[in-house]
Amino acid sequence: MNPEEQNEALNGWQASARYWEKYRVLIAQMFAPLTSGLIEEARIGIGQKVIDIGGGSGEPSLTISSIVGPTGSVVYTDPVAGMVETAQTEAARRGLTNIQFRQCSGDDLPFADGAFDVAVSRLSAMFFPDPASGVGEALRVVVEHGYSSFVVWGVKEANPFFSTVTDVMDRFVESPKEDPDAPDPFRFAAPGKLAGILKNAGAENVIERQLNFQIEAAISFEQFWQLRTEMSETLREKMARLTPAQLPTIKQAVADAARRYFMSGKMSFPAEALIVSGRKSAV
Ligand SMILES: C[S@@+](CC[C@H](N)C(=O)[O-])C[C@H]1O[C@@H](n2cnc3c(N)ncnc32)[C@H](O)[C@@H]1O
Repeated sequence: MNPEEQNEALNGWQASARYWEKYRVLIAQMFAPLTSGLIEEARIGIGQKVIDIGGGSGEPSLTISSIVGPTGSVVYTDPVAGMVETAQTEAARRGLTNIQFRQCSGDDLPFADGAFDVAVSRLSAMFFPDPASGVGEALRVVVEHGYSSFVVWGVKEANPFFSTVTDVMDRFVESPKEDPDAPDPFRFAAPGKLAGILKNAGAENVIERQLNFQIEAAISFEQFWQLRTEMSETLREKMARLTPAQLPTIKQAVADAARRYFMSGKMSFPAEALIVSGRKSAV
């Protein structure tokens, strides 16, 4: 990824920040099983110092803040100003005092070696410009034997929350051929890919766990459609290229494909993620 592409990607996230704020409550609810899985896998407990890399609108930082309690602390990081602002505003609204905010990229963390007990990243490692540096940084800033844990999406076919929309959209709007190593939600879906990077970075006890869960919320298809087409920069960009006649056709095709996930009067999509963890080896 060259600096120009990197800038463009960050501008996309900056434009997404207001939607991540708009859907904050739903995001926290829909992806709560990922936060619980990450907290369990990284063995986060009272009194620990935790760094969250690519914290977006605030998760998992905000949840971890209450788990580590007043004797622990969380440092939230994200390279995008709009994301930092929304997370910081929410933490202030909740009166949280054990959490600090820093605008920085995952591959260049402005912290000393061993500054934290644990490093976590929920759904952000896929967007590191250079994953080897990002993972290396996560290991560098934790103490010896400290955990670095990353949640990433499993294969697209097991994640209809995404594919019901993108499969239809791709039939109408030309997409560039996918580079499996380019930043993308499914960049680390292949089993062993991120775990390999973590091992190469020198981590020990590397474990990859598959997490199957339901993405659930009490929302209608109409609300789902709005949320998906607003939150994703790629979809916003594709929507802008549609002709007025294409939009209702696409929306109807997505509604048909998604009908079975709205049968119980709420949204419930099966989903698959991978939690990849390792410990910093002793020097
Ligand atoms: C899918 S969102 C996930 C946000 C949050 N952790 C969550 O799970 O709700 C991806 C986040 O990665 C951030 N990101 C993009 N490039 C990054 C980088 N180089 N280093 C760290 N985070 C990055 C984005 O700004 C965005 O907030």
